[in-house]
Amino acid sequence: MSRKTVGIRALLEELPERIREVEHTGQPLVMTKHGQAVAPLVPTPSLPVQTPRIVALTSLKGGVGKTTLTMHLAAAIALEQDQVVVLDADEEVSAFRWQQHAQADGIELPFRVIPAERNTLMRQARDLAKAGHTVIIDTPPNNREILKSAATVADVVLVPVLPTGMDVDRLATTLELLTDLGAALEDFSYAIVLNRFDARKAMAHEANDALNAHPRLSTVVKSLSAYEKVFGQCPTELAQFTEIWNEIKEAFGEEA
Ligand SMILES: Nc1ncnc2c1ncn2[C@@H]1O[C@H](COP(=O)(O)OP(=O)(O)OP(=O)(O)O)[C@@H](O)[C@H]1O
Ligand SMILES: [Mg+2]
Repeated sequence: MSRKTVGIRALLEELPERIREVEHTGQPLVMTKHGQAVAPLVPTPSLPVQTPRIVALTSLKGGVGKTTLTMHLAAAIALEQDQVVVLDADEEVSAFRWQQHAQADGIELPFRVIPAERNTLMRQARDLAKAGHTVIIDTPPNNREILKSAATVADVVLVPVLPTGMDVDRLATTLELLTDLGAALEDFSYAIVLNRFDARKAMAHEANDALNAHPRLSTVVKSLSAYEKVFGQCPTELAQFTEIWNEIKEAFGEEA
């Protein structure tokens, strides 16, 4: 699927013509403001169906839930597909160790976790996707090189963020990097996912509102103690992740 990118000023001036063009060609329109993608996940029901095959969980910030979301999203996708793979691109191999702990306890995860090989992450992900797998890439914090590789090869990039002022503020560097990548890549989608949302906290709602200025998933991941305890076990709290997967598929023109 190719997306056309139009600057925001040009878009305002040319809106009627652009709408006709979108209707005519079925190509989604990505609005950019100073090169920043405002809404790259544009639902386009008229597009031919294309299932996202590679999803990358990225953030330069540590501890935002990349591994937790990776493992739960993989388990949610495994409810509908056999061939789901987590590609663990973090040298700390938390996702891989999660699988090892599970195996040691005789628990079989409904997907495989493979440590990514240094220097061949993109090829590895692409080969797995070509072989029919849905690939979820878990990435390390503070590693621009791996973030770029994972985001480049991914069909969709998810950026978890925690609902605090500091975390939302720290998003800027990750988004800058992704926006820069988006300027060079034709097919590029990223979306922020609010993680550890606690509806009782005003700050969580403020953070949620602040994220509306960016491309984001409307599904938020709640703060649950189940997520803190599940390392080494099979993820079972999957409802929110099924919703996330449906939201991604809908954005790609597929019926949920
Ligand atoms: N929605 C949630 N509710 C409760 N706890 C959560 C949630 N998401 C993550 N956590 C907890 O937050 C901590 C950090 O999560 P996780 O390890 O997934 O983050 P990460 O971004 O992968 O970290 P790193 O950058 O170090 O790889 C873990 O203890 C995890 O159990
Ligand atoms: Mg991690």
